[in-house]
Amino acid sequence: MKALTPGRIGGLTLRNRIVKTATYEGMSPGGRPGDALIELHGDLARRGVGLTTVAYGAVEPEGRTFGEQLLLDDGAREGLKRLTDAVHAAGGAASLQLSHCGGFSKIGQPRGPSWGFNRYGALMGRPLVRPMKAEHRERIEAAFVRATRLAFACGFDAVEVHLGHGYLFSQWLSPLFHRAPLEERLAWPTQVLRRIRAEAPGAVLAKTNLEDGVRGGLSPDDAVQVAQAIEAHVDAIVPSGGLVQINPMFLLRGLAPLADMIAVETHPLQRLALRLFGPFVLRDAEFAPSFFQGRAERIRDAVDVPVVLLGGIESKAAIDAAMEAGFPFVALGRALISDPDFVQRLEQGEDVVARCDRCNRCMAEMDRDGVRCVLP
Ligand SMILES: Cc1cc2nc3c(=O)[nH]c(=O)nc-3n(C[C@H](O)[C@H](O)[C@H](O)COP(=O)(O)O)c2cc1C
Repeated sequence: MKALTPGRIGGLTLRNRIVKTATYEGMSPGGRPGDALIELHGDLARRGVGLTTVAYGAVEPEGRTFGEQLLLDDGAREGLKRLTDAVHAAGGAASLQLSHCGGFSKIGQPRGPSWGFNRYGALMGRPLVRPMKAEHRERIEAAFVRATRLAFACGFDAVEVHLGHGYLFSQWLSPLFHRAPLEERLAWPTQVLRRIRAEAPGAVLAKTNLEDGVRGGLSPDDAVQVAQAIEAHVDAIVPSGGLVQINPMFLLRGLAPLADMIAVETHPLQRLALRLFGPFVLRDAEFAPSFFQGRAERIRDAVDVPVVLLGGIESKAAIDAAMEAGFPFVALGRALISDPDFVQRLEQGEDVVARCDRCNRCMAEMDRDGVRCVLP
């Protein structure tokens, strides 16, 4: 099976082509990598995953959407080092997602490309998104560079820069948040990627949107141009889609876990917000296996760097089809949450289909004791 053969992303050789994509684990108490986080990624490597991605690393305190996200500062150093040691001891490789939330935050001062309404943090007293000034951009750029140095100093083999899902660079690239021509929208994210690339002794991946999936957002045509503009500065592109603050089910598909999210929300005002606005934002969305493949093929045809296929990959058949269609790597989220032994079973020759039924209740679990599959 081709997916079980080694593959290269930049200078990094992976033992196979199966990537565990970023699924924020909720295992970073006080912003520090917890033992459970280290155990989880060590375990995925022991079970054969080629590259495991540690999710949502905020490059500075203001880059967090909420307080318990992993914060990439000196205090995280020791835990991150233990995590990469555990992954390497099992023959795997580790990637760290570098992120900033911009104007989509419950804490700090939301800032984005333009004035806007932060409905995610509105009831927490942060309704207004202010435009970033040059000094904010410089501070954030420096924070991405620092986080890159930290990641590689802690033994990570790769970093994944988040340019999708409605976070800061996704806001910057999207005409919905940033009313400027595409060339102008591209300038700053491209510059930051260039600086990250210059600092990185290992691989640099970019997670992008292949469309925002809402009227007035980043279009599939724009997304192709984004991929072409950034490819000189990255070793691989991981196209996804959707905006967490507007259409989160676009990137997940399946059932909206609203009742569970209300149940785990501890803040009364946030719970109220979820009850009032949740039904408009979190709506069931039809799932299809490999749901981004058609759109991702457009990106793959437009660039020379490897494109990692992501979104609804849940079976051996889907992985084989992705490889045949010319994607050199696949990334799996929920299939590895529901079936952490997925790769082992592929290695044993099984025609694996993940148990995941896209109930998406794993999303709510991250606010309980950490992401886990709720299936018995
Ligand atoms: C519980 C959970 C947490 C997630 N957290 C992140 C995250 O921190 N960063 C990110 O880029 N995507 C995140 N995602 C989205 C996944 O990376 C991926 O794009 C999505 O789940 C579709 O892939 P799948 O069908 O293989 O699950 C998360 C998804 C889930 C289910």
